Amino acid sequence: MIAVCPGSFDPVTFGHLDIIARANLLFDRVIVAVGQNSTKNYLFEHEERLELLVAATVDMPQVSVYSLAGLLADFCREHGAQVVVKGLRFASDFEYELQMAHLNNEIAGIETLMLPAHQRWSTLSSTLIREVAWCGQDVSGYVPALVAERIAGKVKSREG
Ligand code: PNS
Repeated sequence: MIAVCPGSFDPVTFGHLDIIARANLLFDRVIVAVGQNSTKNYLFEHEERLELLVAATVDMPQVSVYSLAGLLADFCREHGAQVVVKGLRFASDFEYELQMAHLNNEIAGIETLMLPAHQRWSTLSSTLIREVAWCGQDVSGYVPALVAERIAGKVKSREG
């Protein structure tokens, strides 16, 4: 069975990678769908977010990374995926994911599996990482080394 892990991944964190790795244990194949939401202001361009996800999942052979444009339900249909896997941290995550899950089920019969975020990453968010990094703090404890390096580069170029 094929599962999809969708997200903005701006940037990918150890919290995302934990969910992807756990989905990888449960399903034959996992497709990471990197979203592009025109209403969002991303720190990393879409191509760079894709590149960072590919690098971060290089040791997971059953995991592939694709760009998500349009509806997630259509993406799942196109890739033969029956399940969407999402990580849950807070009650507020659940409320949003429940809406998405119902809609995706109605549109395309897609099931959604919600995995509780690992305790260690349960309060981590890409938003927080961006804010902390922008204040010059090292974020290498929360994101892959390449991501930490790229953020530091962006902060430096802003200062320069
Ligand atoms: O990490 P994010 O920002 O919560 O990820 C958002 C993403 C890309 C997963 C979400 O915006 C999404 O699923 N977009 C696809 C568009 C879509 O299907 N919207 C309706 C959901 S039923």
